[in-house]
This record gives sequence, C-alpha cells and structure tokens, in this order.
Amino acid sequence: MGTSEAVLQVLSGANPLLFNSAKCSGNLDATFPSRFLYKYTKKRVSRYKRLFNCSSTLQSDLGLNWLKGLGYGLSGCREVNRLQLLSCKCQQAESVSGLTAEDGNGTWFVDSAKKLNLKSVANTPNILEFQDVQQFEQEKKSFTSNGAAGTTIDSVSKATVDCLEDEAWNLLRDSMVYYCGSPIGTIAANDPTSSNVLNYDQVFIRDFIPSGIAFLLKGEYDIVRNFILHTLQLQSWEKTMDCHSPGQGLMPASFKVRTVPLDGDDSATEEVLDPDFGEAAIGRVAPVDSGLWWIILLRAYGKCSGDLLVQERIDVQTGIKMILKLCLADGFDMFPTLLVTDGSCMIDRRMGIHGHPLEIQALFYSALLCAREMLAPEDGSADLIRALNNRLVALSFHIREYYWIDLRKLNEIYRYKTEEYSYDAVNKFNIYPDQIPPWLVEWMPNKGGYLIGNLQPAHMDFRFFSLGNIWSIVNGLATRDQSHAILDLMEAKWADLVADMPLKICYPALEGQEWQIITGSDPKNTPWSYHNAGSWPTLLWQFTVACIKMNRPEIAARAVQVAEKRLSRDKWPEYYDTKRARFIGKQAQLFQTWSIAGYLVSKILLADPSAAKILTTEEDSELVNAFSCMISANPRRKRGRKNLNQTYII
Ligand code: GLC
Repeated sequence: MGTSEAVLQVLSGANPLLFNSAKCSGNLDATFPSRFLYKYTKKRVSRYKRLFNCSSTLQSDLGLNWLKGLGYGLSGCREVNRLQLLSCKCQQAESVSGLTAEDGNGTWFVDSAKKLNLKSVANTPNILEFQDVQQFEQEKKSFTSNGAAGTTIDSVSKATVDCLEDEAWNLLRDSMVYYCGSPIGTIAANDPTSSNVLNYDQVFIRDFIPSGIAFLLKGEYDIVRNFILHTLQLQSWEKTMDCHSPGQGLMPASFKVRTVPLDGDDSATEEVLDPDFGEAAIGRVAPVDSGLWWIILLRAYGKCSGDLLVQERIDVQTGIKMILKLCLADGFDMFPTLLVTDGSCMIDRRMGIHGHPLEIQALFYSALLCAREMLAPEDGSADLIRALNNRLVALSFHIREYYWIDLRKLNEIYRYKTEEYSYDAVNKFNIYPDQIPPWLVEWMPNKGGYLIGNLQPAHMDFRFFSLGNIWSIVNGLATRDQSHAILDLMEAKWADLVADMPLKICYPALEGQEWQIITGSDPKNTPWSYHNAGSWPTLLWQFTVACIKMNRPEIAARAVQVAEKRLSRDKWPEYYDTKRARFIGKQAQLFQTWSIAGYLVSKILLADPSAAKILTTEEDSELVNAFSCMISANPRRKRGRKNLNQTYII
C-alpha cells in the first residue's frame, strides 16, 4: 500500500489495525521484540529496583575523552536508593570545611571553559549592563580567588559535580515508565512524598524530550524508539470533547499506562495506554506542540542511533504527514504562522498567548525542516512537500521581519504612522506606538534584541519568551545576526533572565489588572511564579544547544554552574518563583523529571558540543535562495544576494 493511500485510509478510519488500539497486542513492527505481540498480563518492572553503576557506564558508554578531560571520572557513587544518593552528594560537598558549592562550581566552570577551549571567562563582554557587570565581576572573583587551595577545590568540585550527575542519572532511571515490560517514557514528576500528583504521574510528550535526548546521548536508544512508536499509535485515538473531535494528526499531551482487567478473565490484567489529548487536561487545551516535538525527536533518534529504518516505516511516514496536514491545512489566516489557542504548548494555561505565539512558531519551523529531511520522496506527497517548502520560506520571512525587535526597531515602531491603507504600508499590522510598554523602553539593551512573543493585528506582545527565542536559534528561524543578538541580550539581562536559577519562562510578569484579566486571576500564575515569569530549570538544555550552535558555550556553562548550586539541594523542582528565582515554586512538584533530564543533557553537550548536531537544523541553499528572492521582492527593505533563482512558488 502506498503511503498516500495509507493516509487516506487512516483519515477515513479504514485502517483500524494500525491505529485504533494502543494495547500491547498492537504489532508495532516486524522487528519489534516478540513480547510486544502478545497481550501482556501484569508484570511490571519496579521503577525502584534497577541497580547499576552509573559512573562506569558514563565512562564506557560515552567513551569520551572529553569527559575524562573534564574530570568526569569514577566518583565511586553507586546508586543504592534516593536517600543514600542524596547523602552521598552531601558528604562530598561538606567534607571539605570552608569550601562552599559556589567556590567549587566556579572552579569547575573555569576549568571546563579552559578545557573546552572556550572564549576566556575573563573576556567579560562589554555589553553587560551595570548591575550585571557587578554580578559577573563578583562571580569572576570567586572563580579566581582560590589561590593555593585551587587544586583541592578542583578535585572536590569535580567529585561533587560527578555525584550530582550520578544522582541525576539515577533519578532519571527511577522515573522510567514501563509498558509490557519495556521502557516507554518517563513520568513527569516522581516525588514519593507528594500527595498532590495531579497528572504528574503521566508521561508527557514535551517533558519526555529532554529525557529522550539524554538517553540517546548515552547510547540507550530503545526507550526512545518505543516512545516514538507507541505515541504514534495514540495519534489517531478516538478523542472527543462534548461530541467534538480535534484533527486526526493531533498527538496527546500525555499518556498513562493503566492496568485493567483482561476481557473475559477476572483473574488476569493487561496494560493499556490511556492518552490525554486535552479532553481531561486542566482547561481542556489541545497540545499543539506534542506532534511538533515528536517529529523533532524522531529526527534526533535517527541522527544519533543511525537507525533510519524507524523514520522510513510507512506508519511513521504517515504519522509525519498527518501532523503536517493538520498544521498546513488552509484556514482563514492571512499569516504563515500557526494560529492556536491559549495554553497550547509548554505554557498550558491561560497566559494571553493565544494567536501566533513564538514558541509554537519556532517548533513548527523545526518540525517542517525535520520532516522535509525525513519524508521519503514519492509521487503522492509532492503537493505536501511543495506546501511545506512554501510555508518554510514564508514563515521564516514573517518571523525574522515582523517579530524581531531591537533598539532601532523599537524606535521605528515608536514613530510609526497608523491607519495606512495601502499594499506597501510600513506599519502593516497597524500597531499603535502607545503599545510600547514603559518597561521595555528601559529594558532593551543597546546591543542585542529578541523575537517578540506574539503578533496579531494591532497587537504586539512584547514579552520575552525564552523557549521561542532559544529554539529559533537552534533551528535557524532567527538569522545568524539575530541569533547572536538574542544571546547578547540574554547576557545583558542575566540578572532578569537567569539570576539565581536559569531560566525565566518569560519576562516580565503580568501584574495587577493585567494579571486579573489575562490569566483570569489564576492563583497558580501569580506574578513571578510558574508560567507568569517563573524560572524553569528544564530550559537549560535548550539554552545549551543554542549557545553551542552559536559557538558561545561559555554562556550555557555559566548558567549550568548557577543551576548546580541548588538543583539537587532543592530536590530538582519544577520551577522557581520571585524576580530573582530565589524560592522554590509555590506549587512546584519536586523531582521533576525534565528538570533532571535538562540538566543532564546540558552537561553531556557541554562536554561534547558536537553531539548538539542531532538537534540543530540549518537552512539549506535552496531555502536560503528562496528566502533571498522573497526579501528582494519586499519593497520595504532590500537585502541579501543578487542574481538568485527563485526555487519555490511563494
Ligand atoms: C505543567 C507545565 C507543562 C508540563 C506539565 C508536566 O502543566 O506547564 O509544560 O508539560 O506540567 O510537567
């Protein structure tokens, strides 16, 4: 059966065998272990019983001289259980009197920076603003003032960091969820003392991404492969809310492995996957980002494992196309950006991001690029690929041109004429200059810039959203200059965006009446908490990939160093509150898996920056070509190459 045929059959519900069930009995593929072929009677592997020697696996699996060079050697930390682990770390940290974690980490940073041949820490960028320069200088002093004690501190800090990583690996393994005896994902949070688990006992698609990347980087491919194939089966699950069904390509936000009585046999049970597409989620939000992340992970899996058979499978190709069809479907929109409701991504509650939020656009762009790389060329998909190419070009033009702000652009907006009725209006979206918020006039650094959070007619959301900006660097949605400028801004605004814990999810917080109206007076999203400008350690991994891509890993290393001071001590919280991220979040879950995995991915990538390639994407020459043609056709600004052939119909 051709792929297009398969798509049609799936869309018309004519292929129940492939897509209607997520029970273990579903045959995922011929090469899948035979245990997937029979119904699974309850025999779960306990998450808490997996003993291993993490130090030695780290060394042998990664096999990286980098790691040895960085002092990631055998630390003698073996997992026994969580409490022992925590105490192992504490003993190491406390065994040298008078040395704080701060000293130790500082030494690690200088040391790693040297060994990684990073630009010198001493080269403080002159773009730092006054308060940040002070903080930066203070940190620098603590790095270098250890004098003769340096060597001792060096080894102690390495041991502490080793232990921290060992602890993180063990916690990550503890969070693994099994289905039919095989690992299939990681639970969102794994705090045995918490009575308020809500839906944090589920495997979230977006939360699994850093876990999956950590496992891939460690050479453990099975869990990722299982995750990809099983979530694919959930894609076309019957899903309705009050009789209405969302589009067929939608991936769930999360799923749970449930043990249910076996049909017709009271004495036995079987495991089934129970997905949540938003029909049970708080606020009933559809997770637009899930499918986009799924495509990104699929490509990373292929790149890292070398196993391209998974992405070549017909059901996987069909899955990619279903996601694309849903995203590329014609609607009423004038913009190439994806129109979504509030709460459709990492920020999954009302935060005023409905419309065309940057995070979704950045993930959409990545998914298009990754899908383009993976889609098998065949007659039936020519139209889809043409639509995909056109969208890529239009989307990158739109974001680079209209979402970008820096001091110059801000001044331009400040002087905008309004109510321009014409085809070549400068102020295309009729933005009223009074919209420029007072905080931004002060906040925008002289050097640097960023992509705004959202753009709609007569509305620019000027908030800085970290994930959207970072991911636009990772996938090249932002130009090279823009990417550097975003990192410049993040350095200049370190005290606002990182402070005591990386990374603010957005900046600044909605306060007062704005908070009341926009969030609906949400008590979880109070100013400087949770999604409303809280700080999320998980964002560290995406930030690290972006810094590595721009050849500025020292910035990420500095952020990791900040995180290391507290993450383990605070029990790996989901998020932090207050302007400087000083408190563990009011309702933050502890032992949050993506905080743990995000830290690990950052560490592994800083030790081996070339591994970040499984996540980054570049524009190829065809796209650059088409983009340049579009720019030169724009009456407002001429830039880019001349004499280039237009490749795509735009
Ligand atoms: C919260 C976050 C969401 C995350 C989920 C599970 O709802 O907003 O992004 O996926 O928790 O950790």
